[in-house]
Amino acid sequence: MLVLGFESSCDETGVALVEWAGGALPRLLAHALHSQVRMHADYGGVVPELASRDHIRRVLPLTEAVLAQAGRTLGAVDVVAYTRGPGLAGALLVGAGVACALAAALERPVLGVHHLEGHLLSPFMGADPPAFPFVVLLVSGGHTQLMRVDGVGRYAMLGETIDDAAGEAFDKSAKLLGLGYPGGPALARLAEQGDAKAFTLPRPLLHSGDLDFSFAGLKTAVLTQAKKLGEQLPARAADLAAATQAAIVEVLVRKSLAALEQSGLRRLVVAGGVGANRALRAQLDAACARRGVRVHYPELELCTDNGAMIAMAAAMRIQAGVQQAERRYAFDVRPRWPLDASP
Ligand code: KG4
Ligand code: ZN
Repeated sequence: MLVLGFESSCDETGVALVEWAGGALPRLLAHALHSQVRMHADYGGVVPELASRDHIRRVLPLTEAVLAQAGRTLGAVDVVAYTRGPGLAGALLVGAGVACALAAALERPVLGVHHLEGHLLSPFMGADPPAFPFVVLLVSGGHTQLMRVDGVGRYAMLGETIDDAAGEAFDKSAKLLGLGYPGGPALARLAEQGDAKAFTLPRPLLHSGDLDFSFAGLKTAVLTQAKKLGEQLPARAADLAAATQAAIVEVLVRKSLAALEQSGLRRLVVAGGVGANRALRAQLDAACARRGVRVHYPELELCTDNGAMIAMAAAMRIQAGVQQAERRYAFDVRPRWPLDASP
């Protein structure tokens, strides 16, 4: 079975081909990505209308590139998959529209995928794929969640952020430090040159006893520090970046360990853009090694948004018998869509 997948929920256009036969794990044949980061950088964040327009320009050339890379023709595609939500409505509609139009022309079935399920299953394309059950720490730009995963489509929420996501905390703090958009990777780079102990920042909800997160207060604390530093801010930015990263990472690590303990599971999967953070990976690796817990990550290039994870999630849902693709081309998108309510 050959699945062609489209991702267009935010500021990356992603297209990919995944194939499987029998019960073997689906395999990524090729994927291509266009990031709109440079286009949005001048505005300090994603401009939804520009995002939609750019997806439209990129999606078919990327599809041609993926087919050429895999040495397959469009006619060989068995199923077309797309991100149905959550995300920007106009951006989602581009991927959904193109996927359904192609599928209708090819007379093939389509399947709409939950973006976070794509992230969650992306480590199955890695060199060290996990096995069910596991705890997943989902840390993207808009979501911070801990879930128990018992199989494809079997997701139980353990805890989530009550305000900002960890990615947002990275991005907003980076903005306060003058690092532009998207701030996460820039803040992480700057943090490598700083001393995390130079500032004491709050670790919100660290001792709350539950598995929820809160990062809005941290952003305020960074703002307060930045204001206090005034003209000294540029000279101390690396230290403040390091302290910010340390606070975010400590909360994520401690809550992940608590989720493992509460669920009695010994396997952790980390997915989503913040999963690319080196400090987070190093501290999770060390903490989990001490406890005999296995940790799995997606390949670095598949941590942030991409089409491969969407094609993969569709393939795994079909293969597991959780959902079948259908020849129904009257598509809709779901800009807001909780994962544990996924069909
Ligand atoms: O999963 P993703 O690509 O998009 C969403 O679905 O939201 O995640 C993007 C988020 C952004 O907040 C970005 O700043 C953050 O992931 N991010 C990082 C790193 N790489 C991406 N945060 C910290 N360290 C990184 N290396
Ligand atoms: Zn994402």
